[in-house]
Amino acid sequence: MIPVGNPAVGKDFIDREKEISFILSTLEKDSVLLIAPRRFGKTSIMRKVEKELSDKDEICVFLEVEDVNSPHRFISEIVMALIENEKIEQRTKLIPVFKSVFSWFKENIEEIGISVFKAKLRGNIKKDLEDNWIDKSAQIFDVINEADSNIYFIFDEFPIAIDKMDQKYAEEFLHWFRKLRQVSPDLRFIVGGSVSIDRVVRDVGGVSVINDFKRVRVGGFQKQIAIDLIENAFQEEGWTYAPSYGDKILDCIGEPYIPYFLAIMLSSIKEEFILTDGKIDDESIEKIYDFRILGNEGKHYFEHYSQRLRIFYGDMEEKAARAILKNVCNVDFYSIELAFGIFKKETANDDYEKFMDLIADLSNDFYLEHDPENGLKFYSKMLQDWWRIYHGEV
Ligand SMILES: Nc1ncnc2c1ncn2[C@@H]1O[C@H](COP(=O)(O)OP(=O)(O)O)[C@@H](O)[C@H]1O
Ligand SMILES: [Mg+2]
Repeated sequence: MIPVGNPAVGKDFIDREKEISFILSTLEKDSVLLIAPRRFGKTSIMRKVEKELSDKDEICVFLEVEDVNSPHRFISEIVMALIENEKIEQRTKLIPVFKSVFSWFKENIEEIGISVFKAKLRGNIKKDLEDNWIDKSAQIFDVINEADSNIYFIFDEFPIAIDKMDQKYAEEFLHWFRKLRQVSPDLRFIVGGSVSIDRVVRDVGGVSVINDFKRVRVGGFQKQIAIDLIENAFQEEGWTYAPSYGDKILDCIGEPYIPYFLAIMLSSIKEEFILTDGKIDDESIEKIYDFRILGNEGKHYFEHYSQRLRIFYGDMEEKAARAILKNVCNVDFYSIELAFGIFKKETANDDYEKFMDLIADLSNDFYLEHDPENGLKFYSKMLQDWWRIYHGEV
C-alpha cells in the first residue's frame, strides 16, 4: 500500500524517471524550479534527486524552508546545513574558513556538548546576520564559492518562505538570490513550491527575479504505472485483482493520475474492506469513491485547495476565483469571456490583464487549465468532483 503522508523514499518511491533524468541533466547548467500542489510528489522527487546526486558523490544540502520568514533566517539555515554536512567537512576547507572569518564559533564544543553548541551556533549566526544581511551574505557566499566543488542546494517550499517575508526583505532577498545564481558557477539550486511562485514574486521583484530557473511541472503517473501500482497494492493486501478494477479506479480518479489521489483511493478501499469484510468489485469501487472520498469523510482530502485561496490570494482575487471555480466545476468547459464577466462583477475591476493574471495563478496552482479553443476546465476530475460537492452549488 502506498503510504499517504510522508514523502515516498526507498522502495516506496515509484517511477518519475523522466522527471528525475530531466532534472539531473538540467542541473548540469541551470537551476530547477519544481512546481506542483501539495502532495503531488515534489518532496519525494527532490529526495530522490538528492540521493542520486549523493550516490555520485556530489555535495547536496536539503532545506525545508516553509517556516523561514526572513533573509537572515534563510541564510543562517544554509550556513548551519553546510556546517553540519559531512562531505563539506571532509572535502572542503569551508568550515575552517568560516571559523577564521566569522565570530560565530565563540562557544567551545568540548565544554558544552554538541546539541547546546549547535543551538548557540545557530543563534550566533542568526544574530550576526540580522544586522546588514546583504553584505554578510555576500561575504559568506564568497567563502562558499571558494569551496572548489559543486554544491547542490534543495529548497523545499521556497515560495511560502518568500510569501512570509516582509515585502522589502522579500524583494531584497529575491534580487540577492538571483545575483548569487549568476555569479556562482559551482552552485545549483532546486527549488520546490506548492503555491504559485509567479504570484508570490509578482509584487516583489517581478518574474525577472526567477526567470532563469528551468521549470519542471510535476504531473500524474503514466497510466500503465498507475495500473501496476494498483495491482501491486491489491497483491500486497491479498485481495483478488481483476483488470477491470484498475480501470475502474482510474476512471473514478480521472487524469492526471496523481500518486496522492491513488493513495487516497487505495486506502479508502482498504478501510471499506476491513469494515465490511470486503467484497471488491467494479460497483463497490464506484461506491467507495462516491461515499468515502466525495462523502463527509473525504472533505479534508482537498480542503487545502480551498484554504490556499484564502491564504495566498488577495481578497478580491479570492472572491473572483471562488466564483469562477464554482461555475467551471459544473461543466466540462467554461468560456473565458463568461469568466471575465464574473471577474468584473466580483471585483468591480475591468482590467483584462489582472483577470488573466488570476487565470494564470489558478493554472499555476493546478486548479484550472486554459484551452484557447474550448475555454477553462478543471485540471483534475477528482478535484472537480470534490469541488462540485463542497464549493459548487450555484
Ligand atoms: N514517486 C512516488 N511514488 C510513490 N508514492 C508517491 C510518489 N510521489 C508521491 N507519492 C505519494 O504522494 C504523497 C505526497 O508526496 P510528497 O512527495 O510529500 O508530495 P509534495 O512534496 O508535493 O507535497 C506521498 O505520501 C505518497 O503517498
Ligand atoms: Mg513536500
